[in-house]
Amino acid sequence: MNLLIENIKQLVHTEEKPVQWAKGRAMAQVNVLDDAWLWIEGDRISDFGPMTALNKEELLQGKTEVQFLDATNKLVLPSFVDSHTHLVYPVSREAEFVDRIRGLSYEEIARRGGGILNTARKLKEVSEEELFVSALERLNEIIAFGTGAVEIKSGYGLNWEGERKMLRVIRRLKEVSPLTIRSSFLGAHAVPQEYKGKQEKYVDVVVNEMIPQVAEEQLADFVDVFCDRGFFTVEDTERILEAGQRYGLRGKIHANELDFSGGIQAGVKYNALSVDHLEYTGDAEIEALLSSETMPTVLPGAAFFLNMIEAPARKMIDAGLPLAMASDFNPGSAPSGNMQLILSMASIVFKLLPEEALNATTLNGAYALGLSSELGTIARGKKANVYITKEISGLSFLPYAFGSNKVETVILNGAVQTTKK
Ligand code: NIG
Ligand code: FE
Repeated sequence: MNLLIENIKQLVHTEEKPVQWAKGRAMAQVNVLDDAWLWIEGDRISDFGPMTALNKEELLQGKTEVQFLDATNKLVLPSFVDSHTHLVYPVSREAEFVDRIRGLSYEEIARRGGGILNTARKLKEVSEEELFVSALERLNEIIAFGTGAVEIKSGYGLNWEGERKMLRVIRRLKEVSPLTIRSSFLGAHAVPQEYKGKQEKYVDVVVNEMIPQVAEEQLADFVDVFCDRGFFTVEDTERILEAGQRYGLRGKIHANELDFSGGIQAGVKYNALSVDHLEYTGDAEIEALLSSETMPTVLPGAAFFLNMIEAPARKMIDAGLPLAMASDFNPGSAPSGNMQLILSMASIVFKLLPEEALNATTLNGAYALGLSSELGTIARGKKANVYITKEISGLSFLPYAFGSNKVETVILNGAVQTTKK
């Protein structure tokens, strides 16, 4: 199937010469083509240009099965790339949400055996099929909000049986969903109850048993660790990242959410693809990131939901760094995968210009999944994961009008999706 979108009010984020990421001042640069067309062949972006230069006869010559869409007064953008989620989970945790309203902190809840351990207990009670069905529903929800690629982590099993169950669910999701999906093995998400007081023993299991098994069964693309106060230490993290390297699993880690944990430096040392959360980022952390290929990733939904201090996103960009933003969709700290909301928070809370916010949620998210040559912008040869907005004034309206769904038509792999409204 081929698809021609005509009369596009603005074709946003086009690239003639694709780059792997946008950093520093370049984050504020987004190419916009007014009154444009976009030609999709099969699952790829084939060509684009201004309507005044559209030679339809030539373009369509010899082409059968062409679908036409009119985007008068509408924008076309590359789909969001959500580079950090935990959207395979058994049940929601609104009881803990109410506990936090009453004054308990996320860390106190975790210390009492709630939080991640709560979800890990629930995971044992649900079947692989149930996990799959509920996650697929979440995927369909984020598709309707404009997401075109997503990373999903394990991390609620905390033993091989449970981790494997989650990773198998993610593998099945990869097979059936039109989304581009990448998976991360997060065995070191929390220390399981039975290993309390002997954390290194659990890390031994992760390093010596689970990671080799993940690699053997090709169950994940990346390896993750929650490197923070009360969770895993720098030493634990380095052991896991090193094991990941040996088995071809690059790191994408949780770092510096609760303290200056040393996680950012550990991630950089082991050439992690991304370090995520980053509420506690100072000059030393920025310095380390500046000479790295690691994508700093901020998760505004989690910071908002847990009322945390804000990561110094503005300062990082002004220092010349690239920055990605993702949803962290999970039952404990970010029960939403709506990337339009993340785009709004990027501008409203973190003071990113609409262009910077767009780069953070598209191209840089794609980099954080090793996908920036495939996704994240409108470029010839890239995968045709794009959306058409409702009738709106321009790019700035997207972060401005927070809370409503501005996406009207979703195209994934070149095919128009029927999304639930
Ligand atoms: O990214 N910080 C660690 N892990 C998740 C939360 C997981 C949970 O509470 O279930 C996060 O915020
Ligand atoms: Fe997370």
